[in-house]
Amino acid sequence: MNDKKLLYLSQADVESLGLSMAEIVKALEAAFREKGQGRVEMPPKPGIHPGGGDNFIHAMPAYIPALQSAGVKWVSGFPGNQARGLPYITGLLILNDAETGLPLAVMDCVWITGVRTGAATAVAAKYLARPDSSVAGVLGCGVQGRTNVEALQVLFPLERVMAYDLDREAAGRYADDVGQRLGLDVVVVDTPREAVAGCDLVVTAGPILKKPHCTIQAGWLEAGAFASLVDFDSYWHPAAMHEADKFCTDDVPQLRHYQGVGYFQDIPEVHAEVGELVTGQKPGRETPAERTMTANLGLAMDDMAVAPLVYQRAVEHGIGTWLPL
Ligand SMILES: NC(=O)c1ccc[n+]([C@@H]2O[C@H](COP(=O)([O-])OP(=O)(O)OC[C@H]3O[C@@H](n4cnc5c(N)ncnc54)[C@H](O)[C@@H]3O)[C@@H](O)[C@H]2O)c1
Repeated sequence: MNDKKLLYLSQADVESLGLSMAEIVKALEAAFREKGQGRVEMPPKPGIHPGGGDNFIHAMPAYIPALQSAGVKWVSGFPGNQARGLPYITGLLILNDAETGLPLAVMDCVWITGVRTGAATAVAAKYLARPDSSVAGVLGCGVQGRTNVEALQVLFPLERVMAYDLDREAAGRYADDVGQRLGLDVVVVDTPREAVAGCDLVVTAGPILKKPHCTIQAGWLEAGAFASLVDFDSYWHPAAMHEADKFCTDDVPQLRHYQGVGYFQDIPEVHAEVGELVTGQKPGRETPAERTMTANLGLAMDDMAVAPLVYQRAVEHGIGTWLPL
């Protein structure tokens, strides 16, 4: 008789667990350390494109032996969904037992995708930003605009956020939400430049475009500032990126893949992968005046660093639905 079971965790189940951003940042840093030491198995992510256009469904498998984590995220991004009243990003993650291969859990991946991306920014910033960074600029006040600031607040003495969104109402909702929840002074600004100039930490999190709109010009990013390009190079003029003293990424092979399909056509030479900064193989910030950047593409490893925490917490708290295998 087969008495094997797996745990199903809905989006509400995952969100109800109360995992803290500090726990997520710690898990991401551990995963990046493993990656820096070449101890993560992460094949390139295959994708299908139903309906064409910018629609995608990607398979993102990873195995991190040190975290006893193995599994795959199956995640879709359908830009037309917003007009249908549906979310842009949806998907599921399967976590396997690293010893036996048996599926342990199937969980909604939307929350994990949101928080792990913010945490990856924070890990890069730990090595690339000035420790006294207190003013963040956010361009794109959606999910990533929120999680990136929340993660940066774990490591930096943040006081103020300069928030810009094409949709002013979205920026207003962001100011209320982030101001209240994180206790930060959020200033809604009218121009992208005001969310870059004068900021110590800049996060661009609008739509990812093959043809960048290049809004951020050379001379806007202050000396000593750090920028996280969550929306790839969409927001940045090449001349502005070339001002960076150190330009980093989370995975060079994945960056080369994206360059091959049309993104990142004019970027600076890569100084280091984030994992190499964490292990100390490559130096992070060396002077207070350097401009630093990371273009984190989002790795399967990021998700697999968080999934075991979700599973363990759910089992401990009796959350979710057990299903027969
Ligand atoms: N690199 C990664 O690992 C990673 C992971 C997840 C998401 N992303 C990307 O991050 C971006 C943001 O994702 P999200 O989940 O926060 O989306 P979201 O839809 O929640 O928020 C996007 C916000 O950007 C605003 N916006 C659109 N164009 C803008 C512009 N030119 N300037 C300023 N604001 C603009 C929208 O009004 C919206 O408020 C997307 O491009 C997504 O693909 C990257």
